[in-house]
Amino acid sequence: NAAQELAGLNIVITAGPTREALDPVRYISNHSSGKMGFAIAHAARRAGATVTLICGPVNLPTPAHCTRVDVTSAEEMLAAAEQHMPNCDIFISTAAVADYRAATVADNKIKKSSDELTLTFIKNPDILATIAARPDAPFTVGFAAESQHVEAYAKDKMKRKRLDMIAANDITREGLGFNSDNNALHVFWDGGDEALPEGSKQALATSLLQRVAAQYNNKKSK
Ligand code: PMT
Repeated sequence: NAAQELAGLNIVITAGPTREALDPVRYISNHSSGKMGFAIAHAARRAGATVTLICGPVNLPTPAHCTRVDVTSAEEMLAAAEQHMPNCDIFISTAAVADYRAATVADNKIKKSSDELTLTFIKNPDILATIAARPDAPFTVGFAAESQHVEAYAKDKMKRKRLDMIAANDITREGLGFNSDNNALHVFWDGGDEALPEGSKQALATSLLQRVAAQYNNKKSK
């Protein structure tokens, strides 16, 4: 069981949204609450792992005995993740990272002057792909929030980002995914997959970690 298999491992988890500033009072972000990542942190800790939880702006209490690192933007989240990479065994990326940030952050509040406002955005770094490409890369687990072709898109992301596993959630399903208490996941790895049916994020976190532990040990024994 997972309780023994994760004992002594260092697990780094990202959770929640990132927030990208537009000016001193405004930002763009998304509806991630952090609940999925926090549930995984809690379950990993209970399974004996040493857990570092890197999170964007969320309103959740820190799971007991987990080290929490609060960040705001994608660039800060990447820096925090890289800082915790040495000695990391498993990296689980549940954060909903903003894909773009404003090309320039206005020094002063943007004024309401014209009828239209055009902002230019530039691509944020891909935290998960950056970690997976390191020479000392840990076992990497990504998430995929998809609204169509869930399996094909998730598998494509796993390949492109060179991940060991990916957990896809279909975000079109009512009451699941972003900012809800429940979810359903379809987990893929090289040579296999398994659907984890709808349940609480806590229950799914435990089931997911059992699959992660199995594939981690499988890779180690090769
Ligand atoms: O926080 P909750 O309210 O509980 O909601 C949970 C969730 C729906 C946010 C979560 O289950 C989930 O699916 N997280 C990933 C959401 C997402 O942004 O997926 P993506 O398909 O855009 O990204 C694919 C993977 O790359 C993810 O592991 C993501 O963390 C990572 N990524 C993406 C972009 C980027 N710049 N850096 C990354 O690390």
